[in-house]
Amino acid sequence: MKSMLVMCFAILDVWAQEVAWIAGSPASVSISSKIYPGGRSGVGIWQEGINNVWLFGGLGISDNPFESPRLLNDLWYFNGSSQTWHQVHQGAVFDSTVVEYRSSQIPRPRQLSAVCGAGNIMVVFGGLAEEDLALGDLWVFDTVTKEWQSQEQAYNVQRNKSHIQPGQPGVYGHLGMPTDYNVPGCRKGGVTWTDANNYLWLFGGEGCDTLTPSDTSSSVLLTDYWCYNTLIGRWEWIGGSKEGNKPPIFRQKGKLTYSALIGGRTEAAAWKKNDNAVYLFGGMGHNGTQYYCYLNDLWLINISETVGLGVPFPVLYGFGLVFLGIFLVLCLVVIGVYVYDCSKGNRTPEWRLGSRDIARYRHLLGNDS
Ligand SMILES: *[C@@H]1O[C@H](CO)[C@@H](O)[C@H](O)[C@H]1NC(C)=O
Ligand SMILES: *[C@@H]1O[C@H](CO)[C@@H](O)[C@H](O)[C@H]1NC(C)=O
Ligand SMILES: *[C@@H]1O[C@H](CO)[C@@H](O)[C@H](O)[C@H]1NC(C)=O
Ligand SMILES: *[C@@H]1O[C@H](CO)[C@@H](O)[C@H](O)[C@H]1NC(C)=O
Repeated sequence: MKSMLVMCFAILDVWAQEVAWIAGSPASVSISSKIYPGGRSGVGIWQEGINNVWLFGGLGISDNPFESPRLLNDLWYFNGSSQTWHQVHQGAVFDSTVVEYRSSQIPRPRQLSAVCGAGNIMVVFGGLAEEDLALGDLWVFDTVTKEWQSQEQAYNVQRNKSHIQPGQPGVYGHLGMPTDYNVPGCRKGGVTWTDANNYLWLFGGEGCDTLTPSDTSSSVLLTDYWCYNTLIGRWEWIGGSKEGNKPPIFRQKGKLTYSALIGGRTEAAAWKKNDNAVYLFGGMGHNGTQYYCYLNDLWLINISETVGLGVPFPVLYGFGLVFLGIFLVLCLVVIGVYVYDCSKGNRTPEWRLGSRDIARYRHLLGNDS
């Protein structure tokens, strides 16, 4: 029955899914009004619960009918119950001669920013500003007080001031160790999701890795994962490579492994399978031999481990030192035996180990040993 219906629809040239036009202008050029956002692409969007959606910026048309499309920084709220848009605030025309744009209380205009949220906090990170500048600033919007705050204001953290500027490299620190100074490199097109602990995840995008770019246009495809803790306002590098432009490493199909690597990419899509796993699909990125390919690879990411290696770094470091110590002592024993063996001079030296051999050479080491 259903297939017959679908066939009829196909003959009548209608689509098999029900679709309703809710609102918005049928015209191609549509400016913003107080109650409706203007035409745009590259928006940042966050769905708070079922009914509330927040939309920030993008590239498109402002409320000025005489202006050509530009980067926007207006904020909109979509009420899912009434299906209506509300302008939370208008954008401001960005004055690039004012370097410290942060001093004003709205993030500067941008598209392709990474937007995510938890509780009543929406976080906007980076994006692409005018003149193709990749951004790395973080802003917090409180949906209750309707106020924007920069990361420093919201969490009173000491940030590396250079990251207020576009085109800055990431400060990765150690895997799984959050600090006030860690910050992902400036980027556009990173993909985000929220885990069961209300940590915001950021993966990839196009921008800066650990290196200071030689010029503002030299960007790389990123493969790094970051977690942002909205309670303390700290970034934690939790996986992927510090280095950009990495090709994918596929390994065995369908098997979760630490040795596979999602290739560097921007503007991928991600959605949650459940609280422990996320799917990641496509994007524009590295296919193994070439950058900037349209990708259709699908990955599954185990996100149940949000603290990197799961072992505090000092503990890991301590174990490392103990093993290094044992290794050095063994080396010394072997070299000691070898050297004394040489000193006999009457036969070819041999590698020897073990208490029996050491006993054999005891007379050479001296009677006190
Ligand atoms: C959303 O719309 C519903 C139905 O019109 C209304 O009752 C509710 O107060 C609105 N919510 C907000 C946050 O404006
Ligand atoms: C701040 O960032 C710059 C450039 O990324 C880096 O050289 C410097 O070490 C950072 N400072 C701190 C305190 O992290
Ligand atoms: C990557 O894409 C290029 C261009 O489409 C193609 O020539 C190349 O074979 C691809 N590499 C792989 C590993 O698929
Ligand atoms: C995901 O990682 C957690 C923690 O290491 C592990 O317990 C779990 O088994 C993993 N999930 C799968 C499907 O392998």
